[in-house]
Amino acid sequence: MMPNPAEKYRPFPQVRLNGRRWPNRTIEKAPIWMSTDLRDGNQSLIEPMGIEAKLEFFEMLVGIGFKEIEVGFPSASQTDFDFVRKLIDEKRIPDDVTIEVLVQSRRDLIERTFEAVEGASKVIVHLYNAIAPSFRKIVFNQSKDEVKALAVEGTRMIKECAMSRPDTHWTYQYSPETFSMTELSFAREVCDAVAQMWRPTQDHKMIVNLPATVEAAMPNVFADQIEWMDRNMGYRDSIVLSVHPHNDRGTAVAAAEMALLAGADRIEGCLFGNGERTGNVDLVTLAMNLYTQGIDPGLDFSDIDAVRRVVERCNQIPVHPRHPYAGDLVFTAFSGSHQDAIRKGFAQRVPGTVWEMPYLPIDPADLGRSYDAVIRVNSQSGKGGATFLLERGLGFAPPRRVQIEFSHAVQKLADSSGEEISGEAVCALFKREYFDAGGAVSRVDASTVSVFGRRVSVVSALSAASGEECANAVASALEVGASVVSFETVLTSKGETAAFVGCRVGDQPMRFGVAVHANPAVAVVDAVVSAVNRSKGIVESVPQDEAVEA
Ligand code: KIV
Ligand code: ZN
Repeated sequence: MMPNPAEKYRPFPQVRLNGRRWPNRTIEKAPIWMSTDLRDGNQSLIEPMGIEAKLEFFEMLVGIGFKEIEVGFPSASQTDFDFVRKLIDEKRIPDDVTIEVLVQSRRDLIERTFEAVEGASKVIVHLYNAIAPSFRKIVFNQSKDEVKALAVEGTRMIKECAMSRPDTHWTYQYSPETFSMTELSFAREVCDAVAQMWRPTQDHKMIVNLPATVEAAMPNVFADQIEWMDRNMGYRDSIVLSVHPHNDRGTAVAAAEMALLAGADRIEGCLFGNGERTGNVDLVTLAMNLYTQGIDPGLDFSDIDAVRRVVERCNQIPVHPRHPYAGDLVFTAFSGSHQDAIRKGFAQRVPGTVWEMPYLPIDPADLGRSYDAVIRVNSQSGKGGATFLLERGLGFAPPRRVQIEFSHAVQKLADSSGEEISGEAVCALFKREYFDAGGAVSRVDASTVSVFGRRVSVVSALSAASGEECANAVASALEVGASVVSFETVLTSKGETAAFVGCRVGDQPMRFGVAVHANPAVAVVDAVVSAVNRSKGIVESVPQDEAVEA
């Protein structure tokens, strides 16, 4: 990189716009969506889609609810031509869906395009030509007048073709390619000239689509450009104002949202942001952003994983695990403090109320995601994460002090493996630590405990008035110097009792024992047994031979 990038790059000029209105507006409804996955998205693929993949994608787009779908560039690709014919000949286009086809301003290409869409009931014919200074100068060596004339002539030819085929409902779309890099007054001049040729009406509007073919400025600059066009363009009330942001600076979503504030009615983009270079604007993110503000986007992503699978298969490009709303990891918290907050959020959530969940801007269930992946445990996690997984796997949350004790075991395992610990592994570790804490003491039957082989009856303890008294009685009946210092029970999701008993044996530090049983008294006995076995004191301080003799 250069020490002084200003020697090579210039800042993007600001738009002179007095009293800009867009910053004070809010988005209150969804725009008209147009998916260009099968055209712009497809043109950017290493291996463009074949007919079968296009068909699968098309049907998925219809299922999601798209009413305008750019199905290809039939004059440029035989596959696209054949695909469009297939859609029409096999009557695969639902009545409420309009297909769109792209074309350049050349008679042979326009005629071929009309051949491709012959017989369709509704079609958007989309003409584009580049109009920005760098393209006029470097790519085409054309004057402003020549560029404008090309757009107007293309419009005229399309109008002629459309008028001679009155059985189809034609909508005309013009895109001044590289709009965002063009002098605004010239962009307006070209769009006005095109509209003048097409003569749209309020009842039969045309679409003027303003692309950020290459995103080169901050999204507020794009919004200014759109507001300027919205204010100054001719035929405005007979025009659907559309935007087509690309994502070179990574701000296409922001640019599209601000463009809506600035007066855009329609957005063109691709699912998960596929498209040339850094992609077209991501329609999934845009739609779900609206949804999280309480606005129905009119697109259904309630099985986002199914959509993602089709897109990944057809595009042969994976969706990033951190992709908003759709990535594998986007509803997952690994960090301890996040997990703790989410666990509390779920515990306090009242179904049917407004969504208010720490760290989760949307309910994963609305996208067809389960809560299984919301909390995953690795060495960065804390007690909240493990507790969440225990709750889901074993049906109960241990009390706070048990959580803290258990979190050390989880941490040790995570540190030693360096890997994520699955929910099953966390539950297995808990069972190993507490339920299977074998040692000198074991329960023989409901009322008898073996202590170093010596049989101890706990029958009187079982009839104690409370669980805590029962625990105390069992601890003293064992005669190993154990005393109960903490006691708690909870009901599991299956209606069994989970008992948590903290015991101190001799001068050893207190250890918890945990047990689950349908009979609450048996759960308490088992929890005391587990606590005593987990205490080092009993194993080390009582000689085995002596105990057996006793
Ligand atoms: O990015 C672009 O400018 C385009 C046009 C064809 C609309 O894709
Ligand atoms: Zn594009």
